[in-house]
Amino acid sequence: MTGFYRRDASLVCDGVPLAPIAEAQGTPLYVYSAATIAARYRAIDEAFATYPHTIHYALKANSTLALARLLRTLGSNADANSGGEIDVALRAGFLPSQIVFTGVGKTRDELEYAVGLGIKAINVESGGEIERIDAIAASRGVRVKIALRINPDIDARTHAHISTGRKSNKFGIAFDRTREIVRRTAPRRGVQIAGLHIHIGSQITDLGPLTAAARALVGLARELQHEGTAIEHLDVGGGLGVSYDGSPVPSAGDYAAALLPVVRESGLAIILEPGRQIMAPAGALLTQVVDVKPQDDGKVFVVMDAGMTEIIRPMLYNAFHRIEPLVVREGESVAADIVGPLCETSDTLGRDRTVSAPQVGDLYAVLDTGAYGSVMASNYNRRLLPAEVLVEDGAARVIRRRQTLDDLLALEL
Ligand code: LLP
Repeated sequence: MTGFYRRDASLVCDGVPLAPIAEAQGTPLYVYSAATIAARYRAIDEAFATYPHTIHYALKANSTLALARLLRTLGSNADANSGGEIDVALRAGFLPSQIVFTGVGKTRDELEYAVGLGIKAINVESGGEIERIDAIAASRGVRVKIALRINPDIDARTHAHISTGRKSNKFGIAFDRTREIVRRTAPRRGVQIAGLHIHIGSQITDLGPLTAAARALVGLARELQHEGTAIEHLDVGGGLGVSYDGSPVPSAGDYAAALLPVVRESGLAIILEPGRQIMAPAGALLTQVVDVKPQDDGKVFVVMDAGMTEIIRPMLYNAFHRIEPLVVREGESVAADIVGPLCETSDTLGRDRTVSAPQVGDLYAVLDTGAYGSVMASNYNRRLLPAEVLVEDGAARVIRRRQTLDDLLALEL
């Protein structure tokens, strides 16, 4: 068995008990399961095995170097969303030819960097961006491969904050404007339209919109090929959701079954950009109870040493994460709001949970926080970024040390 599960009273990661790791390293602490990352990467790879595909892991989900390296050794390529993520990808050992670069607001410096490296493709967002890339490429005498990120105006039926495929969202080139942009791009010497790209949102659990978006992409590719554009690949983005509360969600196999019949008729190689699907269940945030405050209504506030600075998903998206004790304590169950230590009422990790006899010092895990957890952490209230541990082959090792106040203040003049 891999990942986070209970062995008797203890929560373990790949068989290694978590409480001693938390005691040794302190909390808040992120812990990752190498075996889960590998299994989930392979599940996607195998689901698409019958069709030419390349997985470009979306670094934005979690780009801690050791994890990026692990994905590379599993055979993954990379999807970077900033110059910083391109740099991390290179440091993790990815070749420029294994990196695609997406992003709604790429700066001149970032574009210069990507063009200079000769990455696999820049996923472009607008006609203006194509002009800027063309000018940079022309001044260097190179030709850059681009993929047009299309906004298909399809509702991904997910949380509004992470829905990106509607016309009203800032992302991509409006479907109806694509043909004109292609016509204007054709004569440019610095860019070559090599692909089409979509990414309609994240935490998608209804495959219908993903199929519809792929169908739109295939139709457009056929039309553009007919008019003489040499499309080489279709990038279908990421977005496949995971189950945070145990309710059934589509598997990697379901995902492939939803996409492959549609893309197969194009004959074009596909790029996949999964992030959450690989990383979310592979990580947990360990935290300790710092106070228990009884309320008049019989409920208690269980105050943790982790909050919105370590995991902002509950506050930003009203996201549900299971919160479980590292060692089950016998005793009376109480209704609790599990909250963080920050000076914000929104700093609530879990509302109306049932907790067994919570006491100061108890250790808990906020589960399924491997994706969009650590990467979205902040220093609000002068809090320090947590350390990170990777459990691999039965051993736990620190892959990122805890930030110190000196690290933080080193930036200040
Ligand atoms: N490709 C592109 C172009 C993206 O924008 C994203 C995610 C992905 C791939 C990976 O999507 P995934 O497979 O992870 O769904 N912070 C939010 C999620 C933001 C997703 C942003 N884009 C959250 O915590 O739910």
